[in-house]
Amino acid sequence: MNVRIVYGSLTGNTRRVAEAIGKELAVLPRAAKEPQSLEGGDLLFLGSGVYGGRPAGAVRRLLNAATSLAGVKVALFGTYGGTPNQLDWMARAVQEKGGEVLGRFSCKGRDWFVLGLVARGHPSAADLSAAAAFARQARERAGQAKRE
Ligand SMILES: Cc1cc2nc3c(=O)[nH]c(=O)nc-3n(C[C@H](O)[C@H](O)[C@H](O)COP(=O)(O)O)c2cc1C
Repeated sequence: MNVRIVYGSLTGNTRRVAEAIGKELAVLPRAAKEPQSLEGGDLLFLGSGVYGGRPAGAVRRLLNAATSLAGVKVALFGTYGGTPNQLDWMARAVQEKGGEVLGRFSCKGRDWFVLGLVARGHPSAADLSAAAAFARQARERAGQAKRE
């Protein structure tokens, strides 16, 4: 199974979650700002922080640029200070391009927008191990779907 991890992270929180997923699955995460396409492959972990209710610009651009995500299973992940509604934005974009959202994971991420006062200490060790468990489950689900 071809598994990829792509993330947008302005202050490092989502990058840490991406790294925890990558460590669990032995896959190197790639920053969304690097030139690439989201098309192709079996399972895509796509992550972002939330900025004004939307995902990072680099993630928005990659999703907007994709012609078709048909056949791609997408596991969304993200970090947030208040509400992880970037995942709604991302789910809608993935589905509009014909991709299938397998599941979502989110945890708090220390919020530098409010001077680091909100969600201090996150992502925590417990958050990162929950992210690793999510990664295992998503890979299992994608593998089952492939065998069916
Ligand atoms: C400019 C800016 C805007 C933000 N806007 C939101 C928001 O609309 N909703 C929210 O829940 N958190 C918001 N946050 C908090 C971040 O989403 C949170 O800290 C997240 O973990 C950042 O991810 P990153 O470190 O991967 O960039 C904002 C943070 C910044 C710096």
